[in-house]
Amino acid sequence: MRLIDELQAEHDTIEQVAGAFLTFAAVPADQRRVEDGESFLRFFRLYANHYHHAREEDTLFAALRDRAGLPTERGPVATMVADHVRMAGMLDDIAASLRAGAPQEARFRDAATAYVHALWHHIDAENSVLFPECGPRLRRNGVVDLPSRGPTPDESHALAAGQALVARYPPPADPGVMRGEGCIMCPAFGVTCRGLEREWWNEWEWDEFEDRMGGV
Ligand SMILES: [Fe+2]
Ligand SMILES: [Fe+2]
Repeated sequence: MRLIDELQAEHDTIEQVAGAFLTFAAVPADQRRVEDGESFLRFFRLYANHYHHAREEDTLFAALRDRAGLPTERGPVATMVADHVRMAGMLDDIAASLRAGAPQEARFRDAATAYVHALWHHIDAENSVLFPECGPRLRRNGVVDLPSRGPTPDESHALAAGQALVARYPPPADPGVMRGEGCIMCPAFGVTCRGLEREWWNEWEWDEFEDRMGGV
């Protein structure tokens, strides 16, 4: 499905720019180009939030709810939307400590690191848990394609600036945080989400699963 392919490709770009942001955050405050910090913030706000997260919410997640009858007030979709809101809020703290310069150097570095790790976990969850389930479930309900849109000029500009920042601040080879597949690192697991199978599977999917396991 084209929209899902687009969103997945955007993840590659967003995670690269996030890695570059970690490299930028390690530069001492008195040597830091604040305007580059502002470009990072513009990328995360305009490209990651306003373009990427918005299309997930207003098109993909809306189709899961309206066309595939999946719950969005709890479970995987609610978890992803809550992440979007939480991560957008983290950018405000990052902006304030970036502009404060040297007196808030440690606060900026901690806030930037927390944001990048949250973003990476979010991308890992969408790539490994949520997105692979979306196409088959939508197709089963007669949805073969979903609308998309190209970026606005501002979003395109933020993307180009983000790509330039990846060249200027190469992402660290070692991410410094555990990444991977599944729900393991998800703070919502067992709180507002019991895992995709328990939230989304219907009776016949469980029957089929039990048959398969019984047949091994
Ligand atoms: Fe997302
Ligand atoms: Fe995403």
